Amino acid sequence: MERPVRKVVFPAAGLGTRFLPATKVLPKEMLVLVDRPIIQYGVEEAVQSGIDNVIFVTSRGKGIMEDHFDVAYELESVLERRGKTTLLEDLRSSRVNVASVRQAEPLGLGHAVAVAQPLVGDEPFAVVLPDDVIDATPPALRQMIDVFERVRGPVIAVERVPMEDVSSYGVVAIDHSELGPGVHRIVDLVEKPPRDKAPSNLAIIGRYILTPDIFPALQETASDRTGEIQLTNGMRRLLESRPLYACEIKGVRHDAGNKIGFLKATAYFALKRPEFADAFRRYLDALDKPVGTTTG
Ligand code: G1P
Repeated sequence: MERPVRKVVFPAAGLGTRFLPATKVLPKEMLVLVDRPIIQYGVEEAVQSGIDNVIFVTSRGKGIMEDHFDVAYELESVLERRGKTTLLEDLRSSRVNVASVRQAEPLGLGHAVAVAQPLVGDEPFAVVLPDDVIDATPPALRQMIDVFERVRGPVIAVERVPMEDVSSYGVVAIDHSELGPGVHRIVDLVEKPPRDKAPSNLAIIGRYILTPDIFPALQETASDRTGEIQLTNGMRRLLESRPLYACEIKGVRHDAGNKIGFLKATAYFALKRPEFADAFRRYLDALDKPVGTTTG
């Protein structure tokens, strides 16, 4: 029997070149969506899914991510003295145990997961790619853990995307079995196939529940043309020895790792906030009016 999922790995070593110059000093995971950094959305999702051991795979200059999840004694005591209980609760709600490990060289997502092995140990674990921000109830990871507890094998989050977008994703092929709503057995995985070679339009979105046998599979996985070890290829290797499952997530996903996706996510999460949703919607509606019309 598989052990419970207690740990989550956040690969966060990337250079953030798509967001320069903002990310020259600031890690892209710390860019703010409304009032919390991108990475906090993923961490809160994990906590709400019952996982509170977080492993960051980082690189030089990313130390503030750990600081962000540390206890801020001075700040907390000031808020306490001033009776700011809501702020204090919000601050405390995302407390987690953080461990981190460095990925010294940018050798790909599969390599990032592999460097977390000493901290993960011999138990199943989740992987969250922080750029993929998913708003879902129950949270995406919870949906996947529920499936994992039933099928007892690795579970990969997928979403149907337009065919013209498949080359930006890992893509899975499934058989015709339906092992529950939106749950399928995977028969193949391909990293970023050209549109005419894609086995389907079921794209991998950045959530995985993996078992520790992914580590030897990653060790046997060759680098691709770009010199990177792809997690998708590691999972393809693992598929030779055990079944893998795809789970279509019920929720809304944003790719906050590119500028337009980040802007959409900002608008989406702002419009969900009761304290300023109405005012913000009025502002957006006014922007729609022809140029020259005054906005309020
Ligand atoms: C990574 C994975 C890819 C997956 C994607 C989801 O690609 O390699 O399989 O579909 O995340 O966001 P990246 O977006 O880091 O290039």
